[in-house]
Amino acid sequence: MQTIITLEELRAARALLPGPAGFVPTMGYLHAGHISLVERARAECASVVASIFVNPAQFGPNEDLAKYPRDLPRDLSLLEAAGVDLVWTPTPEVMYPPGFQTWVTVEGLTAPLEGAQRPGHFRGVTTVVAKLFNAVAPQKAYFGQKDAQQAAVIRRMTRDLDFPIEIVVCPTVREADGLAMSSRNTYLNPQERKAATVLFRALSAAKAAHEQGEREADVLRRIMAETITAEPLARLQYVSCADYDTLEELETVTGKSLLSMAVFVGKTRLIDNFVIG
Ligand code: PAJ
Repeated sequence: MQTIITLEELRAARALLPGPAGFVPTMGYLHAGHISLVERARAECASVVASIFVNPAQFGPNEDLAKYPRDLPRDLSLLEAAGVDLVWTPTPEVMYPPGFQTWVTVEGLTAPLEGAQRPGHFRGVTTVVAKLFNAVAPQKAYFGQKDAQQAAVIRRMTRDLDFPIEIVVCPTVREADGLAMSSRNTYLNPQERKAATVLFRALSAAKAAHEQGEREADVLRRIMAETITAEPLARLQYVSCADYDTLEELETVTGKSLLSMAVFVGKTRLIDNFVIG
């Protein structure tokens, strides 16, 4: 496995890899969710490229950029064990050299949910992913359903900007008790870690109601909100029952829909979602 920092070296090494090349972009502090994307890429592609870059542009001024967890040696050994050929670990100066002033923005899809709570977040995500796509030029790129809106936004950007890349979205990997794996779970103290299962419990309750025939989106949103509110260490930021493709809030669940939420557990902001219908 080669580890590369500069864009010039990345381009040179990439040119020597056999195709199709699969790409897994990450912010590091890797867990089994990230590795599941690498494994899928390994199974489907002749070469696998991963990136590790904690992208300052997608963090708000009051968010956790400075304390975002990092452990590069551990990440590199996990990627090597999973069969990655090339890891790109650009610095902020490589990605955003002095004078940088070009941004990629997806409109409608970034307005609700995470976009409403985190102004500028998706502009940072789409800009860095477009730059990563240009540099790595993969045939396939792998994203997690854990970040459902991000996956939808990246898919939209890929189509709208004619990137010749297939976007593959992989299932959310969970801990044994249902908590979706996330680098941010490391912020939770033991009490908060127990309480954090409330997202999975709330989503499961709404899914069960849907399976029993409930179609009113307001009822499903209420079931989720009540479950969260009953957990003393949790504070609900939003719950949503939205159309899977447009992310618009629903009145009635008829087709493929996305149940999603953002919840503070202590000071840690967690997101999770289920697809229903
Ligand atoms: P990061 O949070 O490191 O996640 C990298 C990829 O792993 C994303 O596609 C994310 O959806 C996926 N992922 C995270 N947790 C997962 C889980 N429990 N199961 C399955 N997949 C999971 O998302 C980002 O980084 C950044 O926004 C990035 C796309 C790299 C752009 O900076």
